[in-house]
Amino acid sequence: PIYTDYFFDEPAFNTHDGGYIPLAVSVAPEQALQIPSLLEPDRQTATDVWYTVTAQAGESQLLPGPKTKTWGYNANLLGKTIVFKRGKHYHITLKNELPELTTFHWHGLDVSGPYIDGGCHAPVYPGEAKEIEFTVDQPAASLWLHAHPCPNTGYDVWQGLATSVLVQDDVEAALPFPRHYGVDDLPLVLQDRHFHENNQWDYDADYDPDGVQGPTALINGTVNPTFDVTTQRLRLRLLDGANRREWRLHFSDDLVFEQIGSDGGILPEPVKMTKLMLTCAERAEIIVDFGHYQPGDVVTLYSDDTPLVKFKIHAFTPDDTKLPDHLVDIDDPAVDPDAPIHKVVMSGMDESVELNGKKFGMQRIDDRQELGKTEYWDITNTNDMEGGMVHPYHTHGGQFTVVSRNGHAPYPNEHGYKDTIGVNPGETVRIKMTFNHPGIFMYHCHIIEHEDGGMMAQLQVYTPEDPHKHYQLMDMDTL
Ligand code: C2O
Ligand code: CU
Ligand code: CU
Repeated sequence: PIYTDYFFDEPAFNTHDGGYIPLAVSVAPEQALQIPSLLEPDRQTATDVWYTVTAQAGESQLLPGPKTKTWGYNANLLGKTIVFKRGKHYHITLKNELPELTTFHWHGLDVSGPYIDGGCHAPVYPGEAKEIEFTVDQPAASLWLHAHPCPNTGYDVWQGLATSVLVQDDVEAALPFPRHYGVDDLPLVLQDRHFHENNQWDYDADYDPDGVQGPTALINGTVNPTFDVTTQRLRLRLLDGANRREWRLHFSDDLVFEQIGSDGGILPEPVKMTKLMLTCAERAEIIVDFGHYQPGDVVTLYSDDTPLVKFKIHAFTPDDTKLPDHLVDIDDPAVDPDAPIHKVVMSGMDESVELNGKKFGMQRIDDRQELGKTEYWDITNTNDMEGGMVHPYHTHGGQFTVVSRNGHAPYPNEHGYKDTIGVNPGETVRIKMTFNHPGIFMYHCHIIEHEDGGMMAQLQVYTPEDPHKHYQLMDMDTL
């Protein structure tokens, strides 16, 4: 089948909140879509790779006139794309050249917490460089790196600290997907900003406890981008990198596309659709086939009615590759019937947001799960349909699978690995989670101002040998 609808309830769209700012059609001149370059290793052997990731401040020409003050990773804005290969061991130097503390969070990466994971408890102070190392052992996926200093994650990400992280493996490499980076395989980081006087951003002026937004779409840090299409098939690695905005994506002519990947990897089967909704921090990989277009045609990607990217069709070699019906196998480990079901209740709006009736406590461990055990987590959004919001629930520490939504089957594109899931008002989503690394991990709403505002908690993944291992945890007061 071809799904022609968004897999979400219209009443749950965050357009219903009083503070919602719609996207505006850009009047800025068209510009070529920025394609972040790939981060080069400092050195590598057959088994090990060394990278340096630097958080830095700079200026970016986003609009005609004055440049915008921005932050990025090894770049003025956003960052270079970081590639990991499954099985290799990575040594990463994290450098902070910013005037304030930040952290480097590997969103979706299966590594130990809390210091390598890079949430609140892994500060890198101004002028400091820290070394971390880990082995990448998870399926090919489109992940991301972003700052996570609590409670300033929203500010850091708004300034630009977010970049794509691609995991590659042999399974994905054998599938008939486009994978020529920057040509037919593109990261598309979807964000929105408000430009003030002299083309500057002003997070504090735009602050909204239900999420900071702006009317201008910023795609890979480009306002009003175009992309020259030179192949029949194009793979887009979409990331909702916005602080609060959800994207309801579709192409001109209701062009059918196929989703091949979700947050944590390739889907078991491709899903054909004309509309796709992404909530904050979610990713989707899609393949678009321009076989019916001629050189000179333009195909536009929209969110609702606002154009985001114009794809300009050039001559291409015919490529009628069809995707197989089955792409990859997804593990479905058994849950111990005696294991308790973890509960997460996201409630409130504005300043009153809470998780399980509490605001986040940096030094409080809210839940526990044993390393390697598979358990259910029930995630509930108590907002009501009248003016409530979809809360994109995210857990650090790996990937989960989606079992059900209010007892019903998950959406057709939710059969693969995920680390973030939109939970509609009045809904309980059951997920199945296995942690493969010990440590302290955050779980929270990924509307970043909800997270910063306290809709967040943390768990300890423990081993039977050392069930109460002590970790040095940050205190809000030390920030
Ligand atoms: Cu993408 Cu706790 O974050
Ligand atoms: Cu994360
Ligand atoms: Cu939320």
